[in-house]
Amino acid sequence: MAAIKVRHLSKRYRIYDRPWDKLREMVGLGSGRLHRDFWALEDVSFELEAGHTLGIIGQNGSGKSTMLQILAGIMAQTRGDCFVNGKVSALLELGSGFNPEFTGRENVFMNGAILGLDKHRMEQRFDAIAAFAEIGDFMEQPVKTYSSGMFMRLAFAVAVNVNPDILLVDEALSVGDLIFQHRCMHRMNHLREIGKTIVLVTHDLEAVTKFCDLALLLDGGRLIEQGKPDMVVQKYRALIFERERRYGGFDGAAEVSGGSALIRSENEMPVTRSIPNIDHRFGSGEAVLLGVELLDERGTATSEAVGGQKVTIRVSAQFRQDVDQPILGYTLRDRLGVELSGCNTSYVGRALPPVKKGRIITSDFHLTLPFLAPGSYSVSPAVAKGSILHHDMCDWIDNALVFSLWSQSLIYGVLRMDTDVQSYVSQSAVDEQQISS
Ligand SMILES: Nc1ncnc2c1ncn2[C@@H]1O[C@H](COP(=O)(O)OP(=O)(O)OP(=O)(O)O)[C@@H](O)[C@H]1O
Ligand SMILES: [Mg+2]
Repeated sequence: MAAIKVRHLSKRYRIYDRPWDKLREMVGLGSGRLHRDFWALEDVSFELEAGHTLGIIGQNGSGKSTMLQILAGIMAQTRGDCFVNGKVSALLELGSGFNPEFTGRENVFMNGAILGLDKHRMEQRFDAIAAFAEIGDFMEQPVKTYSSGMFMRLAFAVAVNVNPDILLVDEALSVGDLIFQHRCMHRMNHLREIGKTIVLVTHDLEAVTKFCDLALLLDGGRLIEQGKPDMVVQKYRALIFERERRYGGFDGAAEVSGGSALIRSENEMPVTRSIPNIDHRFGSGEAVLLGVELLDERGTATSEAVGGQKVTIRVSAQFRQDVDQPILGYTLRDRLGVELSGCNTSYVGRALPPVKKGRIITSDFHLTLPFLAPGSYSVSPAVAKGSILHHDMCDWIDNALVFSLWSQSLIYGVLRMDTDVQSYVSQSAVDEQQISS
């Protein structure tokens, strides 16, 4: 069953050059129309199953908060339909629904009333809300005296503790301190596990790949991609990358120069021509990737490895034009698309020499694999030109190589850290009073 159904949704804002133009237009002064139309959302359609989590991503001003405000029912769309099935609790950018003149406690009760919870039910929940927000005596102070972090803590505590069917969260997590961010994430995971529907607007792409079942990419008010989070996040990265490239990016490369590549004849140099998978590929085409391989200690291509093993990631590319500052590299991701690590020739101070059209470069990255949780991992190779900070992508292939990693010992979480431990045991029994005093 769909919890949210959005059909051809559009939102128009009217922009007035001068504040009083709005008033003049309303009372019929001035010559006709004094505003310009601005479409913050245009023809957006999607559906979210009940119990699923949706991530909405996009650059600043792309329409994410506008979308959430319409879903929350605090703003009307200009065109299209929006059906929301269930009790909604929303945590929006400005913590709307809080009155700055009232205390935290009063606001908690007012919010509860808005969400249809009577005083008695709110009293039962108040302690849990206060414990979650952890703002101490500020609970009895007017909300206008709160810092923005405290404000968000209270708003989040209310939003997740009033038992909503659908929780809408707009970029709130980044406001709290780190402990609070963990607490929020933990709570949202719990809500997801018990079958609540969640819509999350965020710039945290890792949270989207890890946490969401579905993602939407908005750009200039249009929905330009929807689907599996890792695919949508990749599309967004490519979009940002392309904009950076056109913008020109930063200046001042801090890399170590000095060519460190060995010149070899065609028959003597290693070249891989294996590209097992192409999920998505982009770049200017001035150079093309020929292949990527994972090699074991003996130099044999493999698709399996074990934590702690010495391996080589080999990347080969051919240049279709002369390039002054070539860079070869790769990104390592886990099965959920989370970027774990990456490396390139400039980053490790092994800048490559200028290369002529038609030539091939192979870079062998020698590394010891970390003790990661068993599972499948992917390598996305890339060839670029420029410096670390200012480069143009020539060719990038997402998830070109997938390999399985296993472990010889049990791993809790995502990785095993080299740890030594020293413990202490008391010589005799200690009574509890002594412990607490
Ligand atoms: N009340 C308004 N009147 C006119 N334009 C508005 C209004 N509110 C938002 N906009 C415009 O609509 C567009 C979308 O805004 P929105 O706040 O939805 O973006 P966003 O994706 O949430 O951005 P951010 O990542 O910065 O939070 C922006 O260009 C913004 O300037
Ligand atoms: Mg916003």
